[in-house]
Amino acid sequence: MRAIQKRCDHPIIGYSDPLPGVYTAIQGWWERRHGWKPETDWMLLSYGVVTGIYFALETLVPRGGKVLVFTPVYDPFFAAVKNSGHTLVECPLLLQDQSYTIDWARFEDELKHGVEAVVFCNPHNPVGRVWTADEMDRLTQLCAQYSVYLLSDEIHADFGLTRPYTTAGRYPCIHKKLVVYTAISKSFNLAGMGSSCMMIPNPDLKKRIQEAYDSRWMFGPSDLAFTAMEAAYTHGDAWMDAQCAYLRQNSQMVTRFLAERMPRVWAARHEGTFLMWLDMTCFGKSSAELTELLARKYGLALGDGSHYGRQADGFMRLNIGCPQVTLQQGLDRLAALYDDCMR
Ligand SMILES: Cc1ncc(COP(=O)(O)O)c(C=O)c1O
Repeated sequence: MRAIQKRCDHPIIGYSDPLPGVYTAIQGWWERRHGWKPETDWMLLSYGVVTGIYFALETLVPRGGKVLVFTPVYDPFFAAVKNSGHTLVECPLLLQDQSYTIDWARFEDELKHGVEAVVFCNPHNPVGRVWTADEMDRLTQLCAQYSVYLLSDEIHADFGLTRPYTTAGRYPCIHKKLVVYTAISKSFNLAGMGSSCMMIPNPDLKKRIQEAYDSRWMFGPSDLAFTAMEAAYTHGDAWMDAQCAYLRQNSQMVTRFLAERMPRVWAARHEGTFLMWLDMTCFGKSSAELTELLARKYGLALGDGSHYGRQADGFMRLNIGCPQVTLQQGLDRLAALYDDCMR
């Protein structure tokens, strides 16, 4: 905020390009925190991550081409695939021991049947997985083997809570066909700044996406967003560490509360993100009914699980990125619903 205020001392906020310091700040953050040093000339700053996914799909995959997502997943992926004229292929995640894994056999089968791009989410919204290095190795190998684009949405990269998070960027085998997406939006709660960064190791892909972006007169991110990115990635380490420590406590608080007060509801093993994935099928209600009931009667807004995939009805997404007093109030309201319905 101080950096933005200082920037506002200057009276002109015009169209502008980022200064080199923005790129080196992003690079430094990734090298320090994620053990991968993207080259600064791989970086393409854009308005939002979802915007960047649209641009990559439109530019790289012919209309009608098959694009695969692992469901349940962040719902704008569905819209991006469909609205850019592509064919959506769903590869449902497998649920085992209250955690989700990739169905590798099904995934490979889909790749054999003409999938051209995978839109991947790491850490995964909404199920909270931080994919392991082995899983990332297997994913990138398979994408490379079948010559498939990997669009890796790593906007939640900074929220690897139980294990270090592994970026797809660490696997050179996929560099020819890789776009990694990142942003300050989630990490620093600056989503309204409208800014993100695509990291594209293949210069030809980068050029094509950049041309598509520029040709549509997409100005942005704004100059204020450049300032915010540089400041956050330069001075934000201690703040980010403290935030993750706090979120770990919040996550444990929810798991404990559910076990003690709502034993028939369970949360998927939470490894990362500030979102928790709750199985509330014991209520015998659809996610839409639960959303409505929670909002109207209990003053609580949870994410409707069915938005993230067809198989997720009865699930809800809980945002734990808030002060613990607020979280406790939310949990008490959830328990009130539980008591009323399970009595
Ligand atoms: C996985 C994921 N990708 C992208 C976004 C949105 O990013 P942007 O606002 O930069 O489009 C979100 C926001 O919730 C998200 O969870």
